[in-house]
Amino acid sequence: MNQVIDVLMKRRSVRAYEEKEISADVKAEILKATLRAPTAGNMMLYSIIEVTDQKIIDRLAITCDNQPFIARAPMVWLFLADYQRWFDFFLASGVEELCKQKQVPMRKPEEGDLFLGCCDALIAAQNAVIAAESFGIGSCYIGDIMEQYEIHKELFELPQYTFPICLLVFGYPTREQTKRPYTKRFDEKFILFENQYHRLDKQDFKAMFREHEARMSKGKSKEGIANFGQAMYVRKFDSAFSVEMSRSVRLILEAWKN
Ligand SMILES: Cc1cc2nc3c(=O)[nH]c(=O)nc-3n(C[C@H](O)[C@H](O)[C@H](O)COP(=O)(O)O)c2cc1C
Repeated sequence: MNQVIDVLMKRRSVRAYEEKEISADVKAEILKATLRAPTAGNMMLYSIIEVTDQKIIDRLAITCDNQPFIARAPMVWLFLADYQRWFDFFLASGVEELCKQKQVPMRKPEEGDLFLGCCDALIAAQNAVIAAESFGIGSCYIGDIMEQYEIHKELFELPQYTFPICLLVFGYPTREQTKRPYTKRFDEKFILFENQYHRLDKQDFKAMFREHEARMSKGKSKEGIANFGQAMYVRKFDSAFSVEMSRSVRLILEAWKN
């Protein structure tokens, strides 16, 4: 195994941190590696906001679905899909006048541009995760940053063509965290297909979730939930945070479109 694979295989999400600052030098190295991430058209369609104001971090620990560990992270980076910078550059470059001359409407950022920006931002974020890991610094994605758009827009003064796609919190893991068992992944045959998409049937699901079902049948069934699929539907897919995320993302999309 080479060192890169070793770092990738040993990474796990870290949610409890030592009280130890991340030095400016190490931070700079992580940032350099982050900015080397592949980027669509070499346009860097993302921005990073380093959140250093503890008052804002404390607020995020609440607005991101009440996750108190966020407030204890020594480094917090917000990743934005960002077309604002390029759109402002187009405006500053007289593109409006060019379009008038050509008698064509000026195109504004649309859904495709947003998706490309999200790709860029997430790829850069994962570079940050792996770079940090290589220094022994753990991290955790916070997807709930996509919730509560109205609050986050105001907190970070987000302009129209930005989209808060993920928050990353970093810190040196506590000893307990380094001993936590690794989360399991599904067998690759359920994830990797050849040439065509393969829809799974009941038999496949039985094999795929055998361990989850076994673990669940040991516990007591609550709320009339009969199996792992029903539990995941109720606790994740149809949970209050998922519904809030959809509401908030719809709002961000509307902001992009108008
Ligand atoms: C897009 C995304 C959003 C996530 N959001 C959260 C979150 O809000 N809170 C949290 O504790 N973990 C979050 N995670 C971490 C996952 O729960 C974690 O990656 C998963 O359980 C697998 O565990 P591992 O990273 O330790 O292998 C998120 C991960 C991703 C990729």
